[in-house]
Amino acid sequence: MHSKVMFLALFLLFSTLSSTTRAAVPAKNQFKFVNDPSLNGEYDVEYDATYTISSIAAGVFQLAFYNTTPGAFTLALRMGQADPRTIYYGNKFYVPRWVWEANRGKPVGEMATFALLANGNLVITEADGRVAWETKTANKDVVGFRLLPNGNMVLYNSKGAYVWQSFDTPTDTLVVGQGLKLGGVTKLVSRASARDNTNGPYSFVMEKDTMVLYYTSPTSGKRYAYYSFTDRFNALTGALETVTFQCAPQTEENYAYNLYLNYTETDKSFFGSPVLVRPNWNVTYSMLRLGIDGSLKIFSYYEPVERTRWQLTYTLFSEEYAGGCQLPEKCGKFGLCERDMCVGCPAETGATDWSSSCQPKTVSAQACASKAFKFYKLVGVDHFMSAFTPAENVTERACGSKCTSDCKCAGYFYNQADSKCWVAYDLKTLTRNGNSTHIGYIKVPK
Ligand SMILES: *[C@@H]1O[C@H](CO)[C@@H](O)[C@H](O)[C@H]1NC(C)=O
Ligand SMILES: *[C@@H]1O[C@H](CO)[C@@H](O)[C@H](O)[C@H]1NC(C)=O
Ligand SMILES: *[C@@H]1O[C@H](CO)[C@@H](O)[C@H](O)[C@H]1NC(C)=O
Ligand SMILES: *[C@@H]1O[C@H](CO)[C@@H](O)[C@H](O)[C@H]1NC(C)=O
Repeated sequence: MHSKVMFLALFLLFSTLSSTTRAAVPAKNQFKFVNDPSLNGEYDVEYDATYTISSIAAGVFQLAFYNTTPGAFTLALRMGQADPRTIYYGNKFYVPRWVWEANRGKPVGEMATFALLANGNLVITEADGRVAWETKTANKDVVGFRLLPNGNMVLYNSKGAYVWQSFDTPTDTLVVGQGLKLGGVTKLVSRASARDNTNGPYSFVMEKDTMVLYYTSPTSGKRYAYYSFTDRFNALTGALETVTFQCAPQTEENYAYNLYLNYTETDKSFFGSPVLVRPNWNVTYSMLRLGIDGSLKIFSYYEPVERTRWQLTYTLFSEEYAGGCQLPEKCGKFGLCERDMCVGCPAETGATDWSSSCQPKTVSAQACASKAFKFYKLVGVDHFMSAFTPAENVTERACGSKCTSDCKCAGYFYNQADSKCWVAYDLKTLTRNGNSTHIGYIKVPK
């Protein structure tokens, strides 16, 4: 026998053997949920979405297809019961929220299905049969699917171990018990807008020794840190391996609950649990959200309360924590911020009252090429990059040259006392700090 034929024969024998030893999903555990628009839910939900709710539910979580643009559906997990009274309550803040999603940026159409196939693969399939999303768990001994009461969806094998879990693939939200993991998903990415479910410019990233918030500039394509939790991770001896959002009563009496980030290190030397906030009520059902605007907030859900079951329990960019002015979009495209308030529109002719239409005059490509632009000076301001994005150590003149020679540069920021330079591609929120050695230069047409 030729060795090739021999190999083929053996291969066929083995693949037959292995497929027969692998258990298929029992028929009673297989399911198919169809995104049938005639089954649309009627009560308000987050993003003003329309949705088809499935029968897959546990605790305060339910699985659904939702859309914010006609015909573009996301399979997502909803947290909180829909309540007809929230409509009359008139505040969209209290509606159920979308805390996990399968297919951001890859929407599916009406009559798409979410199904657990006999071979153990969990799939979203378009009406025409095209597979749009899958867990790639075919023939891995999957015997069933379950949505757990903590919001984790799992595929388990014949030994009860998890072959796949939704907790491993967060997008912009962590529910209690969910986290980031080295070798897996290491960051949250913001949503582009309420209508547009694609990646936005903000990210919350697990780095070697801290958690950092970044803004990715559409102009330069680079990312700039606008906050870092360095002081919360200063006991680290190794590198971060996992960071999990957790909740636990502070004492046995349950007077207060800690909402914290539990972390482990790669060398197993240490774990820690820096507390973010400690509310005086049962916040077991909470979610940490990287917002569309780059904010980092915790929302907590408490079922026994009527109507107003959601509360905002933590706002990083507020006076108690990082300060509201540190949020890049706090004052829109351009604005001066002081003590959490937008206090001025820093125009060339002097600051005027701030409004959301405050914008710097942009230099056209043509004017830039012919160097028909100049800079005006703002004294006593910091850019949102100043506190957490590493600066370049150059002279003030060299800092200016960098911006002059780069047509995409919108201005530069300089600390005279320690020769720190930041070139800015997006101005957004500037913080007024009264330190006359902190200077901003804004590029405008001549
Ligand atoms: C933090 O995580 C570690 C490892 O998973 C675990 O052993 C520990 O109990 C957790 N600590 C807290 C306070 O949640
Ligand atoms: C807090 O809420 C959770 C979820 O509803 C519940 O399981 C737990 O028993 C509550 N704790 C107390 C002390 O009531
Ligand atoms: C910046 O550069 C100057 C001159 O080269 C040097 O004296 C100073 O120590 C540097 N500062 C930092 C923070 O590196
Ligand atoms: C101004 O900022 C510099 C650092 O850039 C600092 O060394 C100095 O103390 C500050 N001055 C005042 C008055 O706060």
